[in-house]
Amino acid sequence: MEKKNIDWGSLGFAYMPTDKRFVANYKDGAWDEGTLSDDPMITMSECACVLQYAQTCFEGIKAYTTEDGRIVTFRPDLNAKRMADSAKRLQMPVFPEDRFVQAVVDVVQANAAYVPPYGSGATLYIRPYMFGINPVIGVKPATEYQFRIFVTPVGPYFKGGAKPITIRVSDVDRAAPHGTGDIKAGLNYAMSLYNIVDAHNKGFDENMYLDPATRTYVEETGGANFIFVTKDGKVVTPKSNSILPSVTRRSLMYVAKEYLGLEVEERKIAKDELKDFAEAGLCGTAAVISPVGKIVDHDTEICLPSGMEEMGPITKKLYDTLTGIQMGRIKAPEGWIKEI
Ligand code: PLP
Ligand code: COI
Repeated sequence: MEKKNIDWGSLGFAYMPTDKRFVANYKDGAWDEGTLSDDPMITMSECACVLQYAQTCFEGIKAYTTEDGRIVTFRPDLNAKRMADSAKRLQMPVFPEDRFVQAVVDVVQANAAYVPPYGSGATLYIRPYMFGINPVIGVKPATEYQFRIFVTPVGPYFKGGAKPITIRVSDVDRAAPHGTGDIKAGLNYAMSLYNIVDAHNKGFDENMYLDPATRTYVEETGGANFIFVTKDGKVVTPKSNSILPSVTRRSLMYVAKEYLGLEVEERKIAKDELKDFAEAGLCGTAAVISPVGKIVDHDTEICLPSGMEEMGPITKKLYDTLTGIQMGRIKAPEGWIKEI
């Protein structure tokens, strides 16, 4: 199959319409069979529930070309499950998990010409999402929904690629205690927009959010979870019920333990501990692992010993092993790779 004429190496994390997207509609209590559509535009009522009350959730997955030329995706079953959890929390109908995975396969297959080649540094980002589409003016859930998946080829989420970033400890919260921080609702991202623009204006790449109840523990950023490495080589990650259960983070903790023989811990991490870590990174589908070089908390600067030039050594091992599994260089655990 002939690839599109795209300069893969210069792609940033941006949207480009591709040939096909998957569209399914929910009406009268049931999902239709869905279809692959050429049309990137959506027409809906001015009073659609998603426009008035933000009834929408989404997912993020990637497809990769392996070293031997196959196209694969990484653990889409976990995204299907997480989207079901998001839908339930937002009073939306669940798109059946097996159909979700099949639709991911179908839409990637239909856009195979857009899957970046092995070694190009780019990947195909897959964005499933669902929203309430019928008119709703009193505050209540919609009765009709659309589930869609589009794909778009992307490069690194942060401009510098694997260069360490600088983040600041945020003064505002992205999620409420007992709120919606643990689901992938569009509203969580709307809440973070003011703060990410403010961070960028002040020269920071991202915000580090603290636990909204006590503001003493580390949570996550606007679009990724955290991993830290202690000075004695342990991989630790925050435990909280107001952060998104990242597929990448869960996978990395497994890789750290089972592939690299490292000690791992998922536990509460106090902000006061940050100064003692050897390495820090953001992890997520878009972020992959983006190393953190500096954390600024008002007038306190924490410079990670790994520095501002390169990833720390354990972060690098985690990165190489995870991307090795995703791109077929390293044998994956059973069930992690879905062939297209
Ligand atoms: N946390 C937030 C707020 C996110 O938006 C994402 C992105 O999906 C993640 C964490 C990372 O999750 P995953 O590894 O499943 O992509
Ligand atoms: C992802 O990593 O898939 C996300 O949804 C995060 C977003 C900030 C792009």
